Amino acid sequence: MKRRILHFGEEPLREESKPVTTVNDELRVLVKDMFETMYQANGVGLAAPQVGVNLRLFLIDTGNAPMVFINPEIVKATGKEAAEEGCLSFPGLREKVERPARVVARATDLDGNGFEVQAEGLLARAIQHELDHLDGILFVDRISKARRLQIKRDLERIAAGESLEPDEDLDQAEEES
Ligand code: NI
Repeated sequence: MKRRILHFGEEPLREESKPVTTVNDELRVLVKDMFETMYQANGVGLAAPQVGVNLRLFLIDTGNAPMVFINPEIVKATGKEAAEEGCLSFPGLREKVERPARVVARATDLDGNGFEVQAEGLLARAIQHELDHLDGILFVDRISKARRLQIKRDLERIAAGESLEPDEDLDQAEEES
């Protein structure tokens, strides 16, 4: 079942999410719903708070394979890279964000097994963007104050529930997460 994606301005996006303690049927349903929601929105990543669930869990599919990250952490981050990002909670907004270029992340999968992933490029960016969501941090927090002021009106429109893209099929952003 597709769930509603929260927009910037909705409180759960700003909350610190709690660790997942058990992988049960409820969690599996949540993950299934989140994948459905993410694919319908043409996103490459989606964090649980974006559907109003403040648990430390996110999904990523950059085109290679669907991945589920439960209780993720970044154990190493190196380099620096600026690239455009989008976020399903900010429909139509794209901003350049600087982040470490490479990360090593650890998490648990849906079978309860721990795994480690070494990532660069889009995957590294997506992991950092989604992990931020679990701490109530949004990608517009990582742009300059001056730039945030410039896009104030756009942010207000999004907070009012609007999309900046009238036709959501157009120009679907690969990096929306
Ligand atoms: Ni996002």
